[in-house]
Amino acid sequence: MSTEQTGYRILEPTASASAEASRRAFMSEVLIGLSKKPKSLSSRFLYDAAGSDAFERICDLEEYYLTRCEAEILETHAAGLVERVGGRPINVVDLGAGDGRKTALVLDALLRQGVDVRYVPIDISEPAMKTVVGAMGERFPSLPIGGLVSEYFDGVRWLGEQNDRTNLVLFLGSNIGNFDKAHARAFLQQLWSALSPGDLVLVGFDLKKDIELLLAAYNDREGVTAEFNLNLLDRINRELGGNFDRKSFRHFATYSVFSGAMESYLVSLERQRVFIGALRQSFEFSPWEPIHTEYSYKYLDEDVTDLAYFAGFEVEALYYDRNRWFCDALWKVPGRR
Ligand code: AVI
Repeated sequence: MSTEQTGYRILEPTASASAEASRRAFMSEVLIGLSKKPKSLSSRFLYDAAGSDAFERICDLEEYYLTRCEAEILETHAAGLVERVGGRPINVVDLGAGDGRKTALVLDALLRQGVDVRYVPIDISEPAMKTVVGAMGERFPSLPIGGLVSEYFDGVRWLGEQNDRTNLVLFLGSNIGNFDKAHARAFLQQLWSALSPGDLVLVGFDLKKDIELLLAAYNDREGVTAEFNLNLLDRINRELGGNFDRKSFRHFATYSVFSGAMESYLVSLERQRVFIGALRQSFEFSPWEPIHTEYSYKYLDEDVTDLAYFAGFEVEALYYDRNRWFCDALWKVPGRR
């Protein structure tokens, strides 16, 4: 294989601008999020190196059934998925590859059936791109890889202008669940508008189920999820010169039957004031005051299908694990190229 086959291209912005832009975005999130009542910080900021590492450990936990269920789906239904692709040359476009374990199952199934595949991870972070391109290149030495460092939709749109291959876009792992319902709709509409007729998307949804199972998944016995959440305070200390004492906060995750989401919080255990050097400002906390850090929305089958049609897709197939705890939905942009 020639070396040009494996690599990535920076569409926008430059690497240094992106590091600077992400620091500014974090500063403004912390300033706005800790100034308002109720306080909140976006779950996007949970994923620095330590947070990503904790998240990988979450995926291996007994209680965190999501990863296991989705792996079962991809292993069981890989042949059906390949059939839907129908032997056409394809770009497997990966939005949020993580450690790439689930993507590897899809790629493996396509390659084993002799489908002409090109792997296109898209990520705004150049370091994350280097990791995924390196890891997948090692795992699949003869797979052409053309990563794109860009915003998701700019990358998908650019790709559509380059070639006539069908795109199979992966948005796995219940990442859609971290958007509230309005954002999930807007995200999928934008994805649809960046794609071409005949393109496919595979989206992973965690389904509504026994509330005890949900509570256990986000309150594991080993405390890995608590570590993942509390790391956000450490990140503010490390990157913005904060003086949070993580022992005076606790992780709290609960299921809201009203919103249909697991909701995660960091709760202040006492009255306290926290200073953040980069913002030259202190923030007051009352005893038991929460910072909201994450929504993890759970879906019904009909919510999944409604969402597909709302965003303009046709439902091609719905794949479930044996317990019907998780669903990977395969949707198509109507029409042909
Ligand atoms: C990445 N995302 C889908 C996970 C979830 O289930 O919402 C993040 C996570 N938060 C706590 N545990 C895992």
